[in-house]
Amino acid sequence: MFVKNVWYIAAFDNEFEQPFVARRLLDVPVIMFRTSDGVLAALDDLCPHRLMPLSSGKRIDDELQCGYHGMRFSAEGHCTCVPGQTNIPSAATVKTYPIISRHGFAWIWMGDPTLADADLIPDMHWHDSPDWAPSSGYHHINANFTLLNDNLLDLSHETYVHHRTIGNGEELSIAHYPPEVTTEANCIVRAHREMPRIVPPPFFSMTLRHEGLINRWQVAINLVPSLNITVVGVHPVEQDRASAYIGHVLHLLTPESETSTHYFWSFIRNYRLDESDLTEIIRKGIASTFDEDKIILERQQKQMEVLGRQVPGVAIRVDEAPIRARRLLEQRLKDEQENPSYVVAPPALIPEYSYAQ
Ligand SMILES: [Fe+2]
Repeated sequence: MFVKNVWYIAAFDNEFEQPFVARRLLDVPVIMFRTSDGVLAALDDLCPHRLMPLSSGKRIDDELQCGYHGMRFSAEGHCTCVPGQTNIPSAATVKTYPIISRHGFAWIWMGDPTLADADLIPDMHWHDSPDWAPSSGYHHINANFTLLNDNLLDLSHETYVHHRTIGNGEELSIAHYPPEVTTEANCIVRAHREMPRIVPPPFFSMTLRHEGLINRWQVAINLVPSLNITVVGVHPVEQDRASAYIGHVLHLLTPESETSTHYFWSFIRNYRLDESDLTEIIRKGIASTFDEDKIILERQQKQMEVLGRQVPGVAIRVDEAPIRARRLLEQRLKDEQENPSYVVAPPALIPEYSYAQ
């Protein structure tokens, strides 16, 4: 069960330096490429003749050639050549999907193409803004995307899963700082947590170059169905909030299948912008942090399958935001089922007040 009428991330823009990118999205095999005039194209990864994946063939100029009998298809999905004959059967077409490049990502619309309005793409401008510096990467996770939403909305797990990097010691468990959870416009859940006067976890003493006490806050944001952002702010207690180092961590999830997820991520910072070695240190640190999540999520998915059970088996306080997001998702699925033209314009994900106490 997936929300269809919404923009999902299909790829990072820079992946299109390759001839094409083939990826299963919402259980549909899709092949994507950037044409010579710079426009993105997305088609079913399927030759209508003998059902070969077009990605098993090759790209010739701005066309895809099936690797079995050489039939060729344009970016618009029209057959342009059938070797050995001059007529083109009218059924020789491949379904296409709206796809748009914005803020360094390729956004795809898997639902009703007549509803694919570019104005519905959520704002991710920090990812390609000169005022911010991104450290980006990708994880493939063998778990349903809702388990990732749960994980990202409940950051108390940092204490136990990520104690080497962004977690605090258990004596100062993040769960001891309960977040204020709000729901907005029936499509956003925010969990805002303040952690004043704490010992900096290793990652933050490294980026702040500071060993003394810090004020830290984090706002976990979920936009239905599967875009998440964590705003993280830190500053030494002697300094004021306006000087804080701020990171926007984008966790942009696209279901691959019911049991697997594409996890496109980017840690975007507003400090030490020109330090490319810091960009790389952060990228490696975040990648290994998310490796830790991957282990948890994949074990959890497996347990659910083996035991035939759902989560949470028992709800505790830290589940408030994840449960609210699951309810919004269920409602959206229902709304879309009842009205196939149902779309929601996403509000601003990070309004200014996210930074204020
Ligand atoms: Fe995590």
